[in-house]
Amino acid sequence: MAKEKNKNKIKKSKKRKFFGLDKNGNPPEFPYVLATSSTIHNRGLFAAKDIPKDAYIIQYLGQKISKTNSAQIGLNQFESSQFTNEGSVYIFDLDDKHDLDGNFDWNIARLANHSCNPNCEAQDIEGEIWFVALSKIAEGDELTFDYGYALEHWKDHPCQCRSKNCIGFIVRSEDRKQLKKIMKVSA
Ligand SMILES: C[S@@+](CC[C@H](N)C(=O)[O-])C[C@H]1O[C@@H](n2cnc3c(N)ncnc32)[C@H](O)[C@@H]1O
Ligand SMILES: [Zn+2]
Repeated sequence: MAKEKNKNKIKKSKKRKFFGLDKNGNPPEFPYVLATSSTIHNRGLFAAKDIPKDAYIIQYLGQKISKTNSAQIGLNQFESSQFTNEGSVYIFDLDDKHDLDGNFDWNIARLANHSCNPNCEAQDIEGEIWFVALSKIAEGDELTFDYGYALEHWKDHPCQCRSKNCIGFIVRSEDRKQLKKIMKVSA
């Protein structure tokens, strides 16, 4: 009986641990990356050393939340960002029902900016989100991925990535041709 109680206690305390920290409360280390100021927006993620193509660079850490809760959490993050220079919302789209709330200091993957010509891709590896190198990346280069935003709210997301193929707004690559047409018509 006493043993059973003990087991339950251990299970509960495991659940209370913050996502991504080890049993001593330390965040995982990702030797390929460092965070510093970016010409795209505020802070960004950069290559701390040369990175080979296909390398698993960093995991996007976060608490798994339902889409229903995500909307309110995102709104709260957006509102508090109005008083700081931080990027507004640190929520990653996980699947049809869930998102990751990555608004933690030790989740430095949250600082990755969007580029219309990205050098990384976000991949779902058995439920974990990893940024994977699309090509060889040189030390010092900013690490970017395609945010994949839908066309619908394009005007809300101006893009400063300065890539040759950038059309000035953050939308997923499949929708860029369509947006070019829309912009031509409304010019
Ligand atoms: C998840 S944050 C990225 C980290 C952010 N740079 C920071 O310092 O917190 C996302 C926000 O960064 C900004 N951002 C990211 N990529 C951008 C881009 N290509 N052009 C303009 N702003 C960008 C937008 O404000 C976006 O809402
Ligand atoms: Zn761009």
